[in-house]
Amino acid sequence: AAQAETVVLTAARMADVLAGKSVANPVVVVTDGRIAAVGTADRPPAIPADAKRIDLGPLTLVPGLIDMHVHLGGTPLIGGYRRLEYTDQFNTVLGVPNVKATLDAGFTTVRSLGEEHHADVAFRQAIDGGFIPGPRIVAATYAIGATGGHCDENTNVPSMVRTSPGVADGPEAVRHKVRELKKLGAQVIKVCATGGVFSRNTDPGAQQMTYEELKMAADEAHMLGLKIAAHAHGTDGIKAAIKAGIDTIEHVSFIDAEGIKLAKEKGTWLGFDVYNTEYTLSEGAKNGVLEENIEKERRVGTLQRENFRKAVEGGARHIFSTDAGIYPHGMNARQFAVMVRFGMTPLQALQSATTNAAQALGRDKDVGAIAPGRFGDIIAVAGDPLADPTSLERVAFVMKGGKVEKDVR
Ligand code: ARG
Repeated sequence: AAQAETVVLTAARMADVLAGKSVANPVVVVTDGRIAAVGTADRPPAIPADAKRIDLGPLTLVPGLIDMHVHLGGTPLIGGYRRLEYTDQFNTVLGVPNVKATLDAGFTTVRSLGEEHHADVAFRQAIDGGFIPGPRIVAATYAIGATGGHCDENTNVPSMVRTSPGVADGPEAVRHKVRELKKLGAQVIKVCATGGVFSRNTDPGAQQMTYEELKMAADEAHMLGLKIAAHAHGTDGIKAAIKAGIDTIEHVSFIDAEGIKLAKEKGTWLGFDVYNTEYTLSEGAKNGVLEENIEKERRVGTLQRENFRKAVEGGARHIFSTDAGIYPHGMNARQFAVMVRFGMTPLQALQSATTNAAQALGRDKDVGAIAPGRFGDIIAVAGDPLADPTSLERVAFVMKGGKVEKDVR
């Protein structure tokens, strides 16, 4: 048998997201990619004599971050109809630098909620096979949605109409689509319960899948052992998705008091993407985003943040969902400061991307904390993220599965 490989990390501080506090002088032992022991300089864990040591000096250790909502292909720099100047696989090719930027930003796990050509399965295979650097990926492949809905293709003239491979109308068609996506590599199911901002001719406030369709999607996903996420801006679509048993609601923009209460009762996770508004409003037009979509962003962004504050004050459970891809990959951590600005403590914001995200993935034995048994997914930042959320934007060191992926100290 091969010799076990042990790496010991030491630093000035550690953000202990399970205990909810900062720990001084942590000592973390990682053996063969998993965390073997966690102690402090005063009470050090057992360390094998041949262990490799990495002293991160004044930095703070933080669990590898988890973004529960990204789109890894393409670039926001080419918006609207400009995409038609590029060939089919263009977006997929750009996924390669995008997954690296995501990992370099400290995100060691991401959930891909909608990607054409099943490209997110290819990213996962290339990363897990050691061919390219990137985070662990939980892939949805195509998002399931209604004909003409947010997740269909609505940009062509009628004589050139195309239907997204994710389209399904009626509960039986939805059942078939869940099974088909699973067959093609999906590890999570995404449904589009309402209209959206970045689609043509859809109303973010309007429900687009019936309760029966959402219930079928949730039951079928759960039967197959998958979690399910719903894109939902509108009040009724949010509530229908919660009642249907969907695990995470994405965007959540127009949630009302009853929706917050329902989410708490059901234990539904809410993923408010409160960072990307600034990017769209300042850069969208010059990137070619259509005025129709920018106009919708103006209507959604402000309300979404007010409702985020209400959901935080109301005690709902939150996950860190950014919709990265609307803005350039690697800027994901900028959302932490926005979450704090709109009512969270820095600890709550960090927990949304660690302990909570891991639970919502059903992976809290593997990711989401620096704790024995979990993967050696550990980053280091300058400053204390429990005092200053912007410190998470300055990632100096990234370890994934015990392997150092970035070190720019
Ligand atoms: N993918 C979402 C949509 O098109 C993005 C919404 C972004 N805007 C926001 N305020 N969260 O609907």
